[in-house]
Amino acid sequence: MKRYSKRKSNRCLCYLNPKLTLLLVISLFLPIYAIMESAFTSFLLTLLLLHYVMVGSAMTQTKNTTDQLALLSLKSQIISDPSHFLDESWSVAVSVCHWEGVTCGSRHQRVRFLNLSNMDLTGIIPRDFGNLTFIVSLDLGGNSFRGNLPQEMAHLRRLKFLDLSFNSFSGKVPSWFGFLHQLQVLNLGNNSFTGSIPSSFSNISTLEILNLKFNSIDGQILKVIGSLMNLRVLNLGGNKLIGFIPTSLSNASRLEKLELSYNSLQGNIPEGIGNLHNMNWLSIQYNQLTGSIPFTIFNISRIEVISFTSNSLSGYLPNGLCNGLPILKGLYLSKNKLRGPMPTSLSNCSQLQVLSLSHNEFDGPIHSEVGRLSNLRKLYLGANHFTGTFHLMNTTTFVYYYFRILFLRIKCRENSTRNWKSC
Ligand SMILES: *[C@@H]1O[C@H](CO)[C@@H](O)[C@H](O)[C@H]1NC(C)=O
Ligand SMILES: *[C@@H]1O[C@H](CO)[C@@H](O)[C@H](O)[C@H]1NC(C)=O
Ligand SMILES: *[C@@H]1O[C@H](CO)[C@@H](O)[C@H](O)[C@H]1NC(C)=O
Ligand SMILES: *[C@@H]1O[C@H](CO)[C@@H](O)[C@H](O)[C@H]1NC(C)=O
Ligand SMILES: *[C@@H]1O[C@H](CO)[C@@H](O)[C@H](O)[C@H]1NC(C)=O
Ligand SMILES: *[C@@H]1O[C@H](CO)[C@@H](O)[C@H](O)[C@H]1NC(C)=O
Ligand SMILES: *[C@@H]1O[C@H](CO)[C@@H](O)[C@H](O)[C@H]1NC(C)=O
Ligand SMILES: *[C@@H]1O[C@H](CO)[C@@H](O)[C@H](O)[C@H]1NC(C)=O
Ligand SMILES: *[C@@H]1O[C@H](CO)[C@@H](O)[C@H](O)[C@H]1NC(C)=O
Ligand SMILES: *[C@@H]1O[C@H](CO)[C@@H](O)[C@H](O)[C@H]1NC(C)=O
Repeated sequence: MKRYSKRKSNRCLCYLNPKLTLLLVISLFLPIYAIMESAFTSFLLTLLLLHYVMVGSAMTQTKNTTDQLALLSLKSQIISDPSHFLDESWSVAVSVCHWEGVTCGSRHQRVRFLNLSNMDLTGIIPRDFGNLTFIVSLDLGGNSFRGNLPQEMAHLRRLKFLDLSFNSFSGKVPSWFGFLHQLQVLNLGNNSFTGSIPSSFSNISTLEILNLKFNSIDGQILKVIGSLMNLRVLNLGGNKLIGFIPTSLSNASRLEKLELSYNSLQGNIPEGIGNLHNMNWLSIQYNQLTGSIPFTIFNISRIEVISFTSNSLSGYLPNGLCNGLPILKGLYLSKNKLRGPMPTSLSNCSQLQVLSLSHNEFDGPIHSEVGRLSNLRKLYLGANHFTGTFHLMNTTTFVYYYFRILFLRIKCRENSTRNWKSC
């Protein structure tokens, strides 16, 4: 992720640099030394110099011991490191800033970035890990870390990026995340977290990406989740969430991706979702949604994927469905209770690659424009009441149809010079 890549810290120098002090001391004492030339002064100066050198090194030492101890503590909890990443590189003989996966800030020489992603490590995170208080970015994704996250991690107040995805962490989703007031990215996807989404999450106003997909999180989605004004990605798919989709989401105007699939959400799709003009990906498959699809959704011009497969949505599709969706690539509406004719505007969805309308109550003819969509790859129309003959321009498109499509004959041709044939 580019924006969180390593960069130099430009914070203020918040403690007195020992080397600078030393220089000041020398320049102050040298003229006096030249004049007096006494053995006593020489002795005093040596003492002073010695003192400053010792204080200086002690300061550096303390600064790097805290982080070193915290990381050694982590290392001691790692029971499997098959590629010997840490074995070899995490050694006290080397400065912690040169350890594999570690990047320090240039001024304080404290650990600011720790990236141990996809290293096949197995272990737990120890409590001492909370001492890495200068850390800004922590990426442990794609390992086999397990157990609970220690409460002490609440001290990592500078964290902006936290990726713990694709591990085996368990326990309740910690409410102390609410203390991390600078957090922009929180990815806990593909773990075994339980409990509900803590209400403290509404306090992380800096949050841009919240990914909790594929855990065992239950309860309702926070009613006030839409107050996270900076949210761009909300992925809560593959959990055990119940209740309604919060109407407050219409206030999260920067939202680009909303993924709530594979839960047990009920009720209507809030009308206000149509106000989210930056939305690019809207997927609420495999839930228990009812009511009709708000037509406002078909006016979000940046949307590429609309997916409501396997719910209990009813009602008609607007005839002009494709007139406000110039870059739509996937329309997934299978396994609902939708009815009425196929929208006539489909030819205006010129980027469409997948059109999935099967297992609904649609009827009437299939418009031949569909067959001319040059980017169409997959067309699911089965288990409806469509009738008539339907011409498909490109046999590279897969047509999926089922027994209830009996009244429909599909003809294909590979290019305009050949004759129509059955396919
Ligand atoms: C961590 O390293 C991996 C592999 O080099 C990289 O893909 C990933 O973006 C890094 N994570 C962060 C937060 O920089
Ligand atoms: C971490 O900090 C706590 C509290 O300040 C301290 O008791 C502990 O010894 C520290 N651990 C390490 C490894 O430095
Ligand atoms: C730690 O201490 C050593 C020896 O004083 C020094 O060389 C190094 O730069 C210090 N800082 C870090 C973060 O390792
Ligand atoms: C993430 O979890 C889902 C659901 O358990 C699973 O289908 C998927 O394969 C997992 N992904 C990885 C990379 O393990
Ligand atoms: C949000 O933060 C404020 C101030 O830090 C605190 O008083 C409040 O309890 C927090 N709310 C939640 C839900 O954690
Ligand atoms: C959206 O935000 C405004 C201002 O904070 C608030 O008054 C309104 O109730 C919010 N709307 C929803 C649906 O939560
Ligand atoms: C879609 O947008 C157009 C132009 O902004 C507007 O006239 C129309 O009423 C909108 N339709 C819906 C269903 O929101
Ligand atoms: C396609 O869109 C254009 C421009 O919005 C419109 O004039 C035309 O009627 C639409 N075609 C269909 C078949 O709806
Ligand atoms: C048929 O599909 C191929 C890609 O599989 C594409 O290059 C070609 O333009 C399509 N032809 C028509 C007539 O749609
Ligand atoms: C289309 O027809 C032309 C002329 O018959 C032929 O040369 C070409 O290979 C055909 N293209 C495909 C994709 O079948």
